[in-house]
Amino acid sequence: MDTAKERYQGFLEQMGEDSFLLPYKEACQRIQRKLEEINAAYSKQLGRTFISQITFRIKTPESCLNKMLKKKYHIEKEAAQERLNDISGVRVVCNFLDDIYKLVEILKEDEEVEIVKTKDYVKKPKASGYQSLHVIVLIPVQDVLKKKVEIQIRTQAMNFWAVVEHHFVYKKGNYGKNEFEKDLKECAKAIYKIDKKMLLLRERMESAQMTEQRTG
Ligand code: GTP
Ligand code: MG
Repeated sequence: MDTAKERYQGFLEQMGEDSFLLPYKEACQRIQRKLEEINAAYSKQLGRTFISQITFRIKTPESCLNKMLKKKYHIEKEAAQERLNDISGVRVVCNFLDDIYKLVEILKEDEEVEIVKTKDYVKKPKASGYQSLHVIVLIPVQDVLKKKVEIQIRTQAMNFWAVVEHHFVYKKGNYGKNEFEKDLKECAKAIYKIDKKMLLLRERMESAQMTEQRTG
């Protein structure tokens, strides 16, 4: 009889095989390429940087196992494929708040990309203070196969917060039990205010620039 430990070991081995991982990698790369094209076109059109950073990662087999145990899913490769939305994860960092929503609209128009779910943690931040807009999309790989990709879209300021909080709190799974929560939440709120202020400022500077150009 196989013990739970042996089963988990078998799962980790399957999840680490190239045949399992390569389609997820290809899905990330396709989204990345698409985002780079979008960035080139829109940065030109807007006359400023649209996307300032695009990164991706494939979730490790260990991280998949931990998440599945936490969510009480069956520890099987098929269940991972079906239920985990973030085996392929792409992160996009923009400068301004409105760019987040602009990018989602652009993705909606893309015939190759199918949006299956949107989680707007900008409009409704998580209890921790975390802000980001997540879109889960399907993208074709190897011609017919479709893979899910979680795209996290946030501003530079939101990214600053999320990276710091992820390092000290989220990754350790100790949300709700640490003394820094209140201050982190305050920082998240301040960041939202700054993001809004920077957007308004950009809009004012853009119209000043237009007036200047018109009046020569
Ligand atoms: P995970 O099990 O963490 O993947 O969560 P989920 O599948 O239930 O989805 P959710 O939308 O809550 O979170 C998806 C991802 O968003 C996480 O893997 C993190 O990268 C990020 N995230 C969500 N909440 C937080 C948070 O409070 N702090 C930080 N730093 N990141 C977060
Ligand atoms: Mg995740």
